[in-house]
This record gives sequence, C-alpha cells and structure tokens, in this order.
Amino acid sequence: MHKHKTNSTLGSKLDAVSKSLKQSIKNLDSYTHVRGESLYVDDVNVRQGTFHAVVFDSPKAHGKIKHIDYSKAEALEGVERIFTYKDVPGKNQIGGIIPDEPLFAENDVHFWGMPIALIVAETEFIARKARSLIDIDIEELPVITTAKQAKANGSFINAPRSFSLGDTENAFKDCEYIFEGETFSNGQEHLYIEAQGAYAEPLENGNIKITSSTQGPTAVQKTTAQVLGLAMHKIEVDVTRLGGGFGGKEDQATPWAVMVALATFHLNQSVKLILNRHDDLRMTGKRHPYESSYKIGLSKDLKILAYEAEFLQNSGAAADLSPAIAERTLFHATNSYFVPNVTTTVISCKTNLPPNTAFRGFGGPQGMFVIESAIAKAAHEIGVSPRQIQEANLLDENDTFSYGQIAKKVEAKNTWHSAKKIFNIEDLEQEVEDFNKNNSSFKKGLAFMPITFGISFTNTPMNHARALVHIYLDGSIGISTAAVEMGQGVNTKMMQIAADVFSIPIEKIKIETTNTTRVANTSPSAASSTADLNGKATLKACKALLERLKTVASEDLNTSEDQIELKDEFVYVNNKKSNLSWTELISKTMLKRVALTENAHYATPEIHFDKTKEKGHPFAYHVYGTAIITTTLDCIRGTYEFDSVKIVHDYGKSMSEGIDLGQVEGALAQGIGWMTMEEIAYNDDGKLLSNALSTYKIPDIFSVPKEVEVIPVETDGNDMAILKSKAVGEPPLMYGIGAYFAIQNAIKAFNPNYDLKFHAPMTPEKVLMGLYENN
Ligand code: MTE
Ligand code: HPA
Ligand code: MOS
Repeated sequence: MHKHKTNSTLGSKLDAVSKSLKQSIKNLDSYTHVRGESLYVDDVNVRQGTFHAVVFDSPKAHGKIKHIDYSKAEALEGVERIFTYKDVPGKNQIGGIIPDEPLFAENDVHFWGMPIALIVAETEFIARKARSLIDIDIEELPVITTAKQAKANGSFINAPRSFSLGDTENAFKDCEYIFEGETFSNGQEHLYIEAQGAYAEPLENGNIKITSSTQGPTAVQKTTAQVLGLAMHKIEVDVTRLGGGFGGKEDQATPWAVMVALATFHLNQSVKLILNRHDDLRMTGKRHPYESSYKIGLSKDLKILAYEAEFLQNSGAAADLSPAIAERTLFHATNSYFVPNVTTTVISCKTNLPPNTAFRGFGGPQGMFVIESAIAKAAHEIGVSPRQIQEANLLDENDTFSYGQIAKKVEAKNTWHSAKKIFNIEDLEQEVEDFNKNNSSFKKGLAFMPITFGISFTNTPMNHARALVHIYLDGSIGISTAAVEMGQGVNTKMMQIAADVFSIPIEKIKIETTNTTRVANTSPSAASSTADLNGKATLKACKALLERLKTVASEDLNTSEDQIELKDEFVYVNNKKSNLSWTELISKTMLKRVALTENAHYATPEIHFDKTKEKGHPFAYHVYGTAIITTTLDCIRGTYEFDSVKIVHDYGKSMSEGIDLGQVEGALAQGIGWMTMEEIAYNDDGKLLSNALSTYKIPDIFSVPKEVEVIPVETDGNDMAILKSKAVGEPPLMYGIGAYFAIQNAIKAFNPNYDLKFHAPMTPEKVLMGLYENN
C-alpha cells in the first residue's frame, strides 16, 4: 500500500473541491477522465468524408532508396492517394533547432522507421493494407547505433559544448583520491497513453485547421506553414489536451500534424492520422542514451575538489532537440553539489536511430547519473558510505554553479538534513544492517538521492507566455493561454489563479483549448515552466481586469479604489460587504463600456545566458529535494522490490498540494522505471527490438515502491514561481536515480567481490550477474 503524507491535514483537504486557492484542489480533469468524457484528438468529431492515413516508413536503418513501387498500393480500392516528398509545395524540412530532418525521406534513409510516404484512404484498415503492398528496394549502408561508434566515425550533430569552472587540471594535483570510470544510461520510451496523432480540416480560402496532440502548438503551426509554403496565419492549431506527453510531444508531435495538413492541402478534405502503438514505438525518438566518462578528485576529508566528465549523447539521425538537451546535461552535471573545479563536455553523436528527443528531465537526469556514479565509485574505493561524500559536498548559499549562476535560497542541505531527521535515518540504517545480518538470500540496500533542478527554458528567449482573459456579461470567465494540459494539472492551476484574484468559485471559470489564433507565438509546454509562465501571464491579465473593476465599483459606491475589495462574489468596502455583487459589477462595467477582456504578456525577468562564455544566470530558481530509497533484493532470483521512498521536497508554497503530490509520485515512478526496468533494445541493424508492451516493461502497480512518503520542506517559497508555488513537473523524476544505487548497495551486501558497474537500467539480469560474479 502507498502511504501518502504531505502534511497532517492533507487527506481531508483533498476531498474538497474547493472554490478558492488556499484550499487544496483536485485536478479538475479527473472528473471527465473517469467518466471517459475528456476529449483527445481521436475524440474530436470528424467531418463526413474524412480520410484516414497511415505512414509508410523505412524498413532499414541506413541506405539509399533505389526504387519504390507504389502501384499495387495505389490500385487498392479505397486508397485515395499516396503522398511523398514530391508533393511538398514548400520545404521538405521539419528540423526545429537545426534544419537537418526531412518530413519524408527523399533519396536516402537514416533510421528504421523514417517516414517515406503518407497513404491516405477511406479507412485506416485500407491504408494499412495498402502499406503492406508497397515494394521498396534499399541499398544498405553501414549502420551506427551507439554514441561511441558515432564518435569513432566522426559522426556528429553539431560542435561539442563545454562548461568549466576553476582550474580542474591543477586541482587534480591537490587531490588525495582520484577515480575514473565510465557509465551508460539507456534511453526511455515515453509511453504516453495517447499515441501521436493529428486531424486536419480545410477551412475557407485555403486555410487549414489542425487538431494536434502536441505540447507545442506554435511549432506545429510554424512547421506546417513552412512545409506547405503558406503564411502562418493560414494555419490554425488547436489542442484539447494530451493523454500524456512527457517531452515526447514537444517536437515529435509535429510531423504527423504536418502530414495530415499536407494531405488536406491537396485533397481539400479532412484527414486523420493516429499512430498505433507499434508505429509510434518504431517511428518516434526516446530519451537519449548516454555513454559517459568521468574523473573525480577528492580531498582527504571527502570534499570533491575536481570533476571532469565527457558525455556522449546518442542523438539519433537528426538534431531534433538534442542540442538543447545536451546543454541541460551540462547545467545539471554536478547535481546538488558544489564543486569548485569542473570541466564538462557534451558531444551530440549522430547515429542511425530515430532522432532522440525531450523526456522529463531533458538531459538533466543523464548528467546527474554520472556524478552519482562517480561518488558511488569513490566511496566504494575509499571504503566509506556514498552518503558521507554526498553530504560533505552539498550545495550551500552563494555557491557558484559551473555556469556562473550564484545559488540562492538553497534548500539542498535543508532537505537533506530534514530527511535524515524526519525519517529517522539511524533507525532506517540499523534496520537494513540487521536485516542483512539475519538474511542470507535476501539483502536490503539504501541510498540517498539529492536533487537540484533549474527552472526556466535554458534558451532564455523561450521564457515567455501570454494569457487572454474574457469576462462574459454574466460574470463567467474564459481563459486562453499557451499552456497545454497533458495530465500535469496546469488547467486547474490556471483556474485557481483567476478564482483567487476575483474571489469567485472555480465553476465560473473555464479554460479554453490551447489555440494559436487566441494565443500566438508560444513556447511549448515544457521545462516544467508551463504553470509559471502561463500562470504569471494569467495573473497579470486578471489583476489588470481587477483594477478596472475596482474603478467601476468605487465610482458606483462613491468611495475610493483602495477601499474596494472583491470577496466571495461581492464587493467589499473597507472590509464591509456592500450590496454590489460580482455579476452586477460586471454588467455595470459593461454599461460603462469598459473592456472586460485583457491580454497579458509575461517574460521571466532577471535571466540571461551568454553562450560565447557559457556563463550567466539561466534559471529563475532551482528546485531542491532529497529522497531516501530502500530496496529488498531476492538474491536467488535477482529480482527486487522497493520497500519505501521517503522524500523531503521543495514545493516552495504549493498552490495545489494534491496535483503536486501526483507529479512527485508519477515522476518518481518514471525515474525508477528508467533506472531499473525499462530497457530499450535495438539490434546492430538499427531495428527496435523492444517494440511492444510485451518487450518493454514500465513500472506498474506491482513494481512501484510499497511506500511513498513526501514531506514538503518549510520555506518562504520563491517569487519567481507562480504564487510562490515552485515548478514540480520534472525535478522529482531524478529521485528515481537513487533506485539504481540502492540496488547496487544491496548487491554489495551479498557479494563483497562485486565490481561496481554503472550501466543502467539495473535489470534483474544484471543484478543476478552482479550477485555471483568474481566468486
Ligand atoms: N505529468 C503528466 N501527467 N503528463 C505529462 O505528460 N509531462 C512532464 C511533467 N509532468 C507530464 C507530466 C514534463 S516532461 C513536463 S516538462 C511538465 O510536466 C510540463 O508541465 P508543467 O510545465 O506544467 O510542469
Ligand atoms: N527544457 C525543456 N524543453 C526545452 C528546453 C528546456 O530547457 N529548451 C528547449 N526546449
Ligand atoms: Mo518536458 S521534457 O520539458 O516536456
């Protein structure tokens, strides 16, 4: 059973769907989810005569296309048309950061699953049948599947990036201990419940409306316009909600939307494309696998004096978001530790895999796994507990990150020491020790995992958003922002903000779909910053409206504006309730011809970064926390269970405790899955072997920790966060890294000759080999 605690009164609070901010609130989407009423792309009503599409993709990872015969497929009854790169009126190019990715392959293919054509037919079944009738002849070329192979072949996406602080070379000379090693962390499949998909319909005058399951409506709009050779205003993109994105729909929702728009453009008919699970798994990129090497130097008293790391990122066949993800690896390479001398380098290696992409943590987890590995190695060699090294190096106020930002309002030590105290670490460790003494075929392991995660898009210009707020004549409200609801509860948070500013019930507020005609030029919903950016814009718009309403109220009630307050749907003067209600105030405002609509723009202040120097202040703030993970290993079978995960987390001042707890739990499970059981496998030909849910295992209710406890650390919050409530989407994923080391410690308890390996995921097979090696 799970045990959830965020504070003593949370349980009762969660049961109330509250009307105002300070009361905790459920994710309001859960009501329609449970009833099956929530609308996804596949639920949107389609027009009569809508065509259905299936993508024809490369059956080889690398080669030259010699010949393709579409004739049998085209002859099949019900097939409308097959589109290829030859049908692209604009540019056959979808690369977001670097223009290196065609929508459809032209003369050569670079990964197994690379789109070549779009088959449009009366039904999906017919389109699939047609796909099986296409003959393709590919002259195969050598296939690269790993980052190391790519490096050896000089196959890169762009130039390497390096961050440095202090003087690593000299610092190593002063070190008592120096250790070097290599690590590997595998990719991870997003496995959003709702697969990729889009629906396009023709509007008047050659305009096209796309309903897309995307985190980035503007990316879809911009890329569609580019491919079709149209102006952006001819393309409208609408997003109802996503059945999960996890980064997998930040960039990689785009091609499917562009394809249906292309077909609609030519056929003047609506077209729908929903990938089935096999197609989605095969054609889309995943979390980047990393092959890394490190060198760590420590003083006699376990201070990390110097740290060097080289990260080889397996980027796949095109850039996609790899450069931005590589950058975040460098930003988080020292995790929660202050290291005075750091040199880190990341190299984006071009391979013949589907372009890898954003995944919760965005390169941060890969960087953090390496320093945790280095610490585990050092502790093992020196003969101390890893937690002694971790504890001796925790970040402090005014410490400098390798990228120049000065750490402020640091909670690294606070969360660490709170965790030790709240969870009685001595008792926990004693329990583990006693258990291990008394059991020979089961062993327990415990690990600490501190996290520090920077909040903002690392690319400063992306940190902006807008909100469009309408108050309707009857006092109800409609809000449009750039935020995409993907299960993280951002819509509920937006409602809470408006409800709080106007002091009206949440039932009076509606969050509209995310639509490029209402909110334009948006950044994707990503970087855990959606609630901050869109929430701050919403807050600004609501406050501007409030000021206007106060002016009207003060005129009506013959008093000054500063006496006026809105409370529980009434105007209060000097803390006394007046007869003027919210709805009356709205109609009076309308009669006075004062605008009841506001459009606000928010851009994160203070942040900046100079890429020529690799220094700056890129993050609005950091999120901190510490987890203690305990596992029990079955040393006969190599299987393991997680007894408990105990976390002290820095929510700031959470505005939605239930939603935020859900984010911590979900991210934790996803992090543990990445580190322990989720194993992506490609063969040497670049074919995905883990291509179904039977061969790719994600955590289920049986494999999640038996107990999860999350205690919020007491802080003042942070004004850069929306209502002081810190971003929570990604940071807790990295608690899951502790699972790897908890298992490793349990293996060590069984097999003192175990030679530490840092090769994630720690699957039962690897555990079993570790338990019995060198004996
Ligand atoms: N939670 C759910 N339920 N579904 C998701 O797709 N995506 C994660 C996280 N939590 C995701 C989620 C990722 S990758 C990010 S960046 C953030 O949510 C995005 O939302 P936020 O910015 O509102 O935190
Ligand atoms: N995080 C997530 N997504 C992004 C980022 C980032 O820092 N930069 C560009 N896309
Ligand atoms: Mo999240 S990986 O920034 O979509």
